[in-house]
Amino acid sequence: MTNPDLSIQLAPNNHKGLLLTNPVMAASGTFGYGTEYADVIDIQKLGAIVSKGITLQPRQGNPQPRLVETPSGLLNSIGLENIGAEALIKEKAPLWNQWQVPVIVNIAGESVEEYAEIARMLNGVEGISAIEVNISCPNVASGGAEFGIDPQMAATVTSAVKQATNLPTIVKLTPNVTDIVQIAQAVVEAGIDSLTIANTFKGMAIDTVKRQPVLGNTVGGLSGPAIKPLVLHLVYRVAQAVEVPIIGCGGIASANDALEFLMAGASAVQVGTATFVDPQVMIQIVDGIGRFMHQQEIANLNQLIGTAILR
Ligand code: FUM
Repeated sequence: MTNPDLSIQLAPNNHKGLLLTNPVMAASGTFGYGTEYADVIDIQKLGAIVSKGITLQPRQGNPQPRLVETPSGLLNSIGLENIGAEALIKEKAPLWNQWQVPVIVNIAGESVEEYAEIARMLNGVEGISAIEVNISCPNVASGGAEFGIDPQMAATVTSAVKQATNLPTIVKLTPNVTDIVQIAQAVVEAGIDSLTIANTFKGMAIDTVKRQPVLGNTVGGLSGPAIKPLVLHLVYRVAQAVEVPIIGCGGIASANDALEFLMAGASAVQVGTATFVDPQVMIQIVDGIGRFMHQQEIANLNQLIGTAILR
């Protein structure tokens, strides 16, 4: 058998498209602006990089501590520390423009207008391949997940962003809702190109000696292997309800984890927490998916997607 084709189109309805050479992406917030890892791993071998969530103005983020390890998981409460949209366009996009690997910019706002304004600023900037709309950050006082817990609000943000940009648009959903399918359907109807499922689950840890929350912001978002079965189930459900490509994100740490997500209906995966354990893990996942396809004589990635969905 010839080499299997791992490429995947994540924005089939957008005239620019979002074609990845493989389905493995670095998750937002776990890979900086990508530049930080350029000397650590061969980033050009990744399917895509999603940069740290960007806001209109730079942000300092939440008080320390911002990270706490839990059994099979990681709680974070960074508070969207970032350099701001203008600096990102001036300082990071020209570097990204020299790369083959597509860079997707995760955007967050405190108002619908702010989301639209950032999307407008990023439109047409060379080096930026797509936008991931973050309506799911659990760690900010206003904006973020506020927009992701209500179908109408989620759709309003999505429409505003879509009107402001020609770039392929992904929306990153929060799992902290009663019915994620409703939110997914609302943003799909508002015209998005693909969905990331999902951001982190709200959680906390308590220092029993101090008798106080460990995180400076009390509450954080849980990621890592602990949440993988939960997110896999969300992907499985949403994949049966919408037609747009889904990017699975939640505790993926091996090729087998990624394959589970693909078979549950995801077209691609994002890897986050596992990168902190081993920066090479994403490359190993790409290679592992390729090996599996070769062994199973699967010529094209599309032949794997959704194959575990019982019809
Ligand atoms: O706190 C943070 O910066 C997290 C962002 C996110 O989960 O989107």
